[in-house]
Amino acid sequence: VRTKVGIVGAGPAGLMLSHLLHLEGIESVVLENRSRDYVEQRIRAGVLEQGTVDLMNRTGLGERLSREGLVHQGIELRFGGRGHRIALTDLTGRSIFIYGQQEVVKDLIAARLAAGGIIEFEVDDVRLENLDSDRPAIRYRTDAGEHVLECDVVAGCDGFHGVSRDSVPAGVLSAYHHEFPFAWLGILAEVRPSTEELIYASHDRGFALHSLRSPEISRLYLQVDPDEPIDAWPDDRIWQELRTRLETVDGWSLADGPILEKGVTAMRSLVVEPMQYGRLFLAGDAAHIVPATGAKGLNLAIHDVSVLARAVVEWDRTGSTEMLDGYSDSCLWRVWRVQDFSRFMSSILHRFPEEEHDGFLARLRRAQLDYVCSSTAASTSLAENYVGLPFD
Ligand code: APR
Ligand code: PHB
Repeated sequence: VRTKVGIVGAGPAGLMLSHLLHLEGIESVVLENRSRDYVEQRIRAGVLEQGTVDLMNRTGLGERLSREGLVHQGIELRFGGRGHRIALTDLTGRSIFIYGQQEVVKDLIAARLAAGGIIEFEVDDVRLENLDSDRPAIRYRTDAGEHVLECDVVAGCDGFHGVSRDSVPAGVLSAYHHEFPFAWLGILAEVRPSTEELIYASHDRGFALHSLRSPEISRLYLQVDPDEPIDAWPDDRIWQELRTRLETVDGWSLADGPILEKGVTAMRSLVVEPMQYGRLFLAGDAAHIVPATGAKGLNLAIHDVSVLARAVVEWDRTGSTEMLDGYSDSCLWRVWRVQDFSRFMSSILHRFPEEEHDGFLARLRRAQLDYVCSSTAASTSLAENYVGLPFD
């Protein structure tokens, strides 16, 4: 089979790329190793930057988002027994939108299939070939046997654990890693959120986050040790620890309810440079990972593929490879800006191990929190990064 763009991965990056290319009359095939149900049920992030929402609205994906998405114009930083609202929209004129990543994936799959797009689910053994030639190919298997997808361009949108990044010959990519000394224990609970806006709490016992998915579903997180076993956290202990870390404000209380899902997520950063090799272009988690603190992973993936789609269209229309050749450079400025912001948010909100014996560091962190919440300049800087810098 032959197509213009072979896309590995039906996550937000791969699906959005396929959608954007289709709108410009460029065909693609998406190859996904999981089932449709699995990718549509996978609980992941839940915050969309203004730029992501604008792109979805501009490209015909905004109908359900407009109905079910929640517009948020502020977040609360909670520490020292007090809540401090960062007025995102007053400070920047932009907002964030609460809408589950799995809802974005559902909308994209529905749009692609309605447009006759080809998404092959449950494929196996994906292998990329001839990436440094003008006839790259993707080999894969299905129940029907072995297949070869010949394409002009391969988009590696297969996430952190995919095969695309590792298909680049050794020595070509430079990888920049950072492991944070903590992880997040996340729960999805069937209980009305106890807050209208997200609460980021920095407590002596550690970080906690009260997020949400809908008026009926809450999403909450606790800072835990990097290798924390989920079995050490029965539901009662989770709710108790969340109350301790979040209920530092008089008169406020946290409602609890049945926990639908719980899991521990590592907090790490990764960037590979360049984000391309020959006719392979890496996008989203295949190229970079950010700690969830800044709610950036999904949005960065969408930005990558908005750049890649424009580059493929230019090449298809004019024969010029200028934007394709410059794809990695066009993405990396934002990738590193987002890495720095995610590290900043993580550094001021989490309790670090060295604070155990170094009170200076703990007080330095408190000074940063006090400054961010008392200075218009500092809170504007946080706000413009949180709502997302404009998509170029
Ligand atoms: N072959 C085919 N598909 C694969 C393979 C493979 N070898 N390996 C992984 N995949 C699929 C995964 O099943 C997943 O559906 O690629 C997709 C990658 O999607 P994501 O991991 O969601 O990555 P991305 O689209 O870049 O979106 C980034 O998603 O995971 C979150 O935290 C991440 O919010 C960020 C966003
Ligand atoms: C979420 O709702 O999953 C979420 C919200 C904000 C974050 C991280 C995760 O910073």
